[in-house]
Amino acid sequence: MAYSPILNVMVGAARKASRPIRRDFGEVENLQVSLKGPANFVTKSDKRTEQILHDELARARPTYSFLMEEGGSVEGTDGQHTWIIDPIDGTTNFIHGIPHFAISIGLERAGTIVAGVIYNPITDELFTAERGQGAFLNDRRLRVAARSRIEDAVVTCGIPHLGRGDHELFQTEITKVQAKAAGIRRFGAASLDLAFVAAGRFDAYWERGLEAWDVAAGILLVREAGGRVEDVDGGPEAHETGNILAANDSLFTQLQKELKLPKG
Ligand code: IPD
Ligand code: CA
Repeated sequence: MAYSPILNVMVGAARKASRPIRRDFGEVENLQVSLKGPANFVTKSDKRTEQILHDELARARPTYSFLMEEGGSVEGTDGQHTWIIDPIDGTTNFIHGIPHFAISIGLERAGTIVAGVIYNPITDELFTAERGQGAFLNDRRLRVAARSRIEDAVVTCGIPHLGRGDHELFQTEITKVQAKAAGIRRFGAASLDLAFVAAGRFDAYWERGLEAWDVAAGILLVREAGGRVEDVDGGPEAHETGNILAANDSLFTQLQKELKLPKG
């Protein structure tokens, strides 16, 4: 498929960075793993992938800023554009030999996400979106699922775990959703959760406590596939608050009723 110049840069960077990931995944048991925090591992592979992405993107657009999971913020001179990068979203899956993780690259321009690439190097599924131009899986145009009743919906989510998130709140949320939904999933990579909503595989997704790099590209994918993504509780941009709800318009409204926290 022919990409715009900016998507070309992003897809090229993702494909280049994916080569060593594929090698490392093949010998995942030999990877050196260092403990970054409880249940939060960072591998040499994350760091190397991020370096490749940074170098490729900086070479193509030398003035842009960066926000990266491993390396944090790097201020560019441009003052408008920021690359938002998660080198391996789904690190726990990666470490466990589960082939469900992705490189995620979002491009923000003056506060708006304008381009996104999510690439699973193992399945070779490449999700791309550019603002106003639609969302694609490889060369197929994406559309969110049309199911409008929660009773028919498969809903994916993030489950807080050791050292992460509000466990009690999640118990309340899952109790409400499990009583209504056709099925609930937890796949372990936020970027792919969003990409799968865009592709109509999942009908909806919610998770709290995410970071901008988990969701920047995925938010654009869902919107460009005709879906709605907002903060679970309403209000500001989901990639800024990290509390996300994504679905088609009808399911969004129904699920938000279940999940929204009372104000104050
Ligand atoms: C994680 C994944 C996971 C989500 C976590 C994220 P990482 O990202 O997206 O699905 O539940 O909140 O931190 O650490 O694997 O890049
Ligand atoms: Ca992540």
